[in-house]
Amino acid sequence: MHSWAEPYKIKMVELLKMTTKAYRKKAMAMAGYNTFLLRSEDVYIDLLTDSGTSAMSDRQWAGMMLGDEAYAGSRNFYHLEEVVRTVYGYKYVVPTHQGRGAENIISKIMIKKGDIIPGNMYFTTTRLHQELAGGRFEDVVIDEAHDAESHFPFKGNIDLIKLHKLVVKYGAEKIPYVSMATSVNMAGGQPISMQNLKELRAYTKKHGIKVIHDMTRVAENAFFIQQREKGYEKKSIAHIVKEICSYTDGATMSAKKDALVNIGGFLALNDQELYDEASNLVVVYEGLHTYGGLAGRDMEAMAIGIKESVDDDHIRARVGQVIYLGNKMVDYGVPIVMPIGGHGIFVDAKKFLPHIPQDQFPAQRLAAEIYLDSGVRTMERGIVSAGRKPNGEHYYPKLELVRFTIPRRVYTQAHMDVIAESAARVFEDRKKIKGLKMVLEPKYLRFFQARFDLV
Ligand code: F0G
Repeated sequence: MHSWAEPYKIKMVELLKMTTKAYRKKAMAMAGYNTFLLRSEDVYIDLLTDSGTSAMSDRQWAGMMLGDEAYAGSRNFYHLEEVVRTVYGYKYVVPTHQGRGAENIISKIMIKKGDIIPGNMYFTTTRLHQELAGGRFEDVVIDEAHDAESHFPFKGNIDLIKLHKLVVKYGAEKIPYVSMATSVNMAGGQPISMQNLKELRAYTKKHGIKVIHDMTRVAENAFFIQQREKGYEKKSIAHIVKEICSYTDGATMSAKKDALVNIGGFLALNDQELYDEASNLVVVYEGLHTYGGLAGRDMEAMAIGIKESVDDDHIRARVGQVIYLGNKMVDYGVPIVMPIGGHGIFVDAKKFLPHIPQDQFPAQRLAAEIYLDSGVRTMERGIVSAGRKPNGEHYYPKLELVRFTIPRRVYTQAHMDVIAESAARVFEDRKKIKGLKMVLEPKYLRFFQARFDLV
């Protein structure tokens, strides 16, 4: 037996406020039953997101002191560029303030009005930037990804027949690129297989279509390839990550996840012409092409974080903790998306609260109930996140989920026990839980700021 354990020890702690149920009831009502509108101070264990919430290492903090805050040509930019080249293999890098900054730029450069962008499930910001640039996102993920009960090991795979149908219907010239994410977030952190990627590369090459990689959680995807795919059992995470990138033409990165920083991202490209355009456009939206909205110290922390993120022991402990929590929930009978994904546990709110219709926001309500029970903050990933179609109707996604997202290197196994027990308690009492009505709906990415009331 070889259990995973953290390849680090704790040097500094952040104290948390413990609250009572009566206190949380008030706080939740004030927040309009939206966990995004809670004050972080009022949260005990914060599983809202794994984005920007990781603990940096002593080396990253030391790197912060080496920030070269020159407006142009910062030493830290060249360090970051060198790390992106060696770890991921992409030739050019344009830093951005975070992932969506890179999505904006690539969408503006590559998408023309009327274009179709196929992808392995939408992500909120990614799709919005594609739409704002005049394109339309088309989902080409395999059907299993939309089925919370399917145990298929690579639910992030692209269905090449669905892709081919789009090519036949619209013509390859209408498809600037395939938007391929590793560790598909909205499906539950589900991986794409190397085999599928190779087939995608061969197909897109034949049709002259590029592949742009959302590499936000590429190392976690690599871990599942190492665990599940034949031929990769003995390959290192670093090797697998680089191979994944080699089948793509460029990438957008939210370094706030895998790369273990609190802020930062980049656009990576292999094509020089695209890079020239991107490094010009970034000046309009983010900043000069050698800082892109970041301080020099942020780029330094990112460069160091990228290297730490592909360490085998790190990723085994990171995903190991998520799997530990998921298995506990399964033992308690809580319905979750299987297989357990890389960055969190996704509770199936349709199965948890089958008596609440989807337009009464069952996942939104469940996230509120978990907070009331224990001060654990989770988030909705269902109909509220999915938003409205360009014609104004709600998207009704098949998956109606509550995400328990685990920050990297932040919480202990004892925290995981407390979280699972809370989910189990709410599950016991599920029949008493009712739906919500939306009383305030923002125009963009409504899940962040919408307000609800009890029905
Ligand atoms: N792509 C994926 C797959 C993401 O999960 C995110 C962010 C982004 C792009 C955008 O990056 O936030 O740096 O601008 N996901 C966060 C989350 C917000 O909670 O899942 P960003």
